[in-house]
Order: sequence, then structure tokens, then C-alpha cells
Amino acid sequence: MRYTGLIEKYRDRLPVGDSTRIISLGEGNTPLIKLENIPKELGKEVNLYVKYEGLNPTGSFKDRGMTMAVTKAVESGSEAIICASTGNTSAAAAAYAARAGIKAFVVIPEGKIALGKLAQAMIHGSTIIQIKGNFDDGMKIVKEVSNHAPVSIVNSINPFRLQGQKTAAFEIIEELGSAPDYHCLPVGNAGNITAHWMGYTEYHEIGKSDSTPIMLGYQAEGAAPFIKGSRVDNPETIATAIRIGNPQSWDQALKLSKESNGWFDAFTDKEILATQKMLTKKEGVFCEPASATSVAGAMRDIKLGKIPEGSSVVCTLTGHGLKDPDTAIAQCDQSAMININPTLEEVKKAILDQM
Ligand code: F0G
Repeated sequence: MRYTGLIEKYRDRLPVGDSTRIISLGEGNTPLIKLENIPKELGKEVNLYVKYEGLNPTGSFKDRGMTMAVTKAVESGSEAIICASTGNTSAAAAAYAARAGIKAFVVIPEGKIALGKLAQAMIHGSTIIQIKGNFDDGMKIVKEVSNHAPVSIVNSINPFRLQGQKTAAFEIIEELGSAPDYHCLPVGNAGNITAHWMGYTEYHEIGKSDSTPIMLGYQAEGAAPFIKGSRVDNPETIATAIRIGNPQSWDQALKLSKESNGWFDAFTDKEILATQKMLTKKEGVFCEPASATSVAGAMRDIKLGKIPEGSSVVCTLTGHGLKDPDTAIAQCDQSAMININPTLEEVKKAILDQM
């Protein structure tokens, strides 16, 4: 059967009616890839998977939430949507608004969003409002302005966003036959970890899974309010997607972490980039820096034995590596590039020199 997006697939578990016009780009149904080389390198017997959300239509998990948020905005007669964003939400909002034929306004921190995300927001025709401030400043303004202008907020404080995003947990349960023992996610606003917990508990309650996972949330050290225990004023990290000091789903994340017996931890930019690179080199999987935080966490906790051998572990890779080409290129060895003349002799030599 032709796959037409997650709302059609999970219609009975989502707040849509028979006559709702669905705004979809075929999101969801992303690969769950079993890692082969990294567990070997760790020397531990674990079943370690990555859910490659970078393969959604705009290259991040945001599409799962945006298909629902824009569908419901259009259903309610809204002609414009707005979001604050570190980049991926703006890309998804711009694309789904274009699809729906409505306007999108995106508020982004000037100079702090990855190139691919900016390109997406621009090419889809959204109105880009750059502020001299960070995501948290933008979020505050967006919440205020929606009381003064006819715009629907499509940040994850919009409950329909989490409804859409919970379907990632449904897909994992359907593929593995039950929930994994552990689920690792990068955490910014904590909307996605909240949505996953909703999905897991929902499927558990209706008997589609025997268990719920232990939820592990990982942050960047310079933007780690959940590890500090309070909001961070000037968050800073190379993983710009999660450069957030005032998470919008703070209470929900603390609650679910406790309920699931989970924990939070943080990683330096250096550790995050090393993990991003390891995934590309050892497994052939290219994710953006923020996404690699989930695998950095899983690897550390497997090594430490906090995640015991024999466990099944799923890490969400939230965004595609192509979102941030600048950071990718900057961490590669430029001398590995071979510059020669276009002759058989020189190309042959270049190959044989490497063998
Ligand atoms: N990973 C990526 C690639 C993201 O873009 C985000 C959030 C997260 C992880 C964290 O998810 O906020 O639900 O905890 N990006 C938002 C944006 C803030 O504006 O694109 P979260």
C-alpha cells in the first residue's frame, strides 16, 4: 500500500476527523538502523539502533509534529503560522505552510542557525525574522505576539506537535515487537522526549508493548539546564539545534524522567563532534551535531555499565548531517583532498598511493 504520511497511518490515535484536510509530505516511516561496528568497538553485547529521523521530508523529526500542527491550524481557519526556532522547526514550518498555501513567520537567532536550515526557510518563502538574541528570547516574543496578531504558534508548546511526534515511538514498537529497554534523545526544549514518552505509554496501555523504556536525555554542556537543575542564561554550543537555556517542556521532562527511572547527562562540543564523525566513518550514517548527542550518551552509559549488556537501546538521530555542511567540512582534514591534473597517469597514481 502506498505510504501517505503518519496522519493517515495513525489516524485512529490522532485528533483528526474524517473530513479534516491533511497537510502531509509523506513524513514518518523512517529507518531503524542496527549499528554494527560501534557496539563491536565498545566490546559490549548490546542491540544498539538509531532511528534516522533525518530522512523525513525536510530532514528532521520536526515534520512529524508539523504535519499535525499545520493540519490543525488550517482546520481552524488560520492563515498564518509562527515559530521561534534554532533552525529545523523553521524549515519544517516553511515547507508545510507552503504545502498548505498559508504564510509562515519564523523567528531565528541571527547568525546561529545552520546553513541548510536557513536555505530551507528561505526557499520555501517564509518570512524570516532574525533577532539579535537566542532561541529563548525568540520564544518569549512569539508567545506574546500571538496575542496581538492572527498567527498560530507551531512550536512544541502547540499540543498537536507532540501528538504527531509520538508516532516515532509507535513505529519503533511495531518494528521491534515491543519497546526497547532504553531510549536516548538529544534534549533542547524537551518536546521530543515528552512526545516519545507519550507514544510509548500510550502503546503500553493499549497492549501493543509489554513495557516502556527508560528515557535518557542528553544535552550539550554549554546548554544543559536539566543537568544544572535550573535555566541557563546564555546557552552556547556548536550543536546549534539544542542551544536552548529555557526548555518549554521542563516540567513534563522532569516528570517522565522520574517515571521511567531515566536520567540526564551532558557532553562537550568536542565529544559531540567526535561522535558525529564516528557515526559517519564507522556506520555510514550522517546526522547533525545535536543528533549525535544521543549516541554519545548511549556509548558512555554502555561503557560505564549504566546500560547493562543484553539491553536493547534506541537513539534518535533527530536531524540530517546535510543540515549543517559548514560544521561537517570544518572538522575534516582538508589535506585529505588530492588536487591533480585530469590525466589517467595522475589519477592512477593518486589511487595506488592510498592502497
Ligand atoms: N535535535 C535537533 C536536530 C533539533 O532541531 C532539536 C530542536 C532537538 C534535537 C531537540 O528537540 O527541543 O524537542 O528537545 N530543535 C528546535 C528547532 C528547537 O527550533 O528546530 P526538543
